[in-house]
Amino acid sequence: MPPVNPAIKISFLGGGNMARAMIQGLLRDGFAATQLRVGEPVAAQREALERQYGVTALADNRAVVAGAALVVLAVKPQQVPELLAGLAPTFAQQRPVLLSIAAGLRVADLAMHCPALPIVRAMPNRAALVGAGATALYATPAVDPAARALAARVCAAAGVAVWVEREADLDIVTALSGSGPAYFFLLAEHLAAAAEAQGLDAGTAQLLARQTLCGAGALAAGTMTLAEQREAVTSKGGTTAAALATLQAGGFDKLVAAAVAAAAHRSAELAAQFGRARTPTAAD
Ligand SMILES: NC(=O)c1ccc[n+]([C@@H]2O[C@H](COP(=O)([O-])OP(=O)(O)OC[C@H]3O[C@@H](n4cnc5c(N)ncnc54)[C@H](OP(=O)(O)O)[C@@H]3O)[C@@H](O)[C@H]2O)c1
Repeated sequence: MPPVNPAIKISFLGGGNMARAMIQGLLRDGFAATQLRVGEPVAAQREALERQYGVTALADNRAVVAGAALVVLAVKPQQVPELLAGLAPTFAQQRPVLLSIAAGLRVADLAMHCPALPIVRAMPNRAALVGAGATALYATPAVDPAARALAARVCAAAGVAVWVEREADLDIVTALSGSGPAYFFLLAEHLAAAAEAQGLDAGTAQLLARQTLCGAGALAAGTMTLAEQREAVTSKGGTTAAALATLQAGGFDKLVAAAVAAAAHRSAELAAQFGRARTPTAAD
């Protein structure tokens, strides 16, 4: 990574979980706290942000975005339209890069409120809270390389960041890495319950299921492919092979494919609903 440019200011609109995760990442990446500002309506949250990270937290979003090279939109999707409407004149004047992490809000929906801005959409996941996030980014061809690089750097500070070429890919990403942590937790819950049903003490089953998830995650971060990692645990005719054969016979692969398809479909559906709700009609 090139050294951080100390002249760059990054502003967050919303000081909740995701903003905190990204702020922590940026501080680890070498950004100074004085380069970061947060707009947050709740006084107690502002105090906590200032105390914990040394950043400036303000209630006035216009003051927050003043002079920012990049503004992270980190509020709930339903809070976005009103927030952007209030900032339209400031954005038109200053033209920062807008990095939106608001789930389901398409570039076209965002551009209605700030047509002059380069807009980058990102789909992070909850693992960003522990610096192990998986984020996919999308931008229209109109967004220049410098804006893309800055947006990617902000996202990569909280884990891994990759670009996707089509906006619709973000629905697949939502189904894969966005919702993904829940799938692994569910599997670990079922593993613990199954071990308990076999007679293992509940606490021991929980502890071992949890640690197995953490251990598999750490192994997966290595250079071996997922299939190689699986094969390394599986000896021919052994215990793991017996379990995997049972899973496959029960249609595990098809079930996972159906689950991911359902999540991707729901993501597209929610985005379309939001877009329709925001599209001006002839009556507007
Ligand atoms: N959490 C995840 O795993 C995840 C994953 C992918 C994407 N996302 C997206 O990330 C975004 C943020 O999620 P989050 O989990 O960080 O939510 P969050 O913890 O609720 O944070 C949002 C923060 O923004 C504040 N806020 C509300 N209106 C505001 C305004 N007008 N100006 C400035 N700040 C305002 C909220 O204050 P109040 O509490 O007073 O409303 C809250 O502190 C969402 O759009 C979500 O879709 C989250």
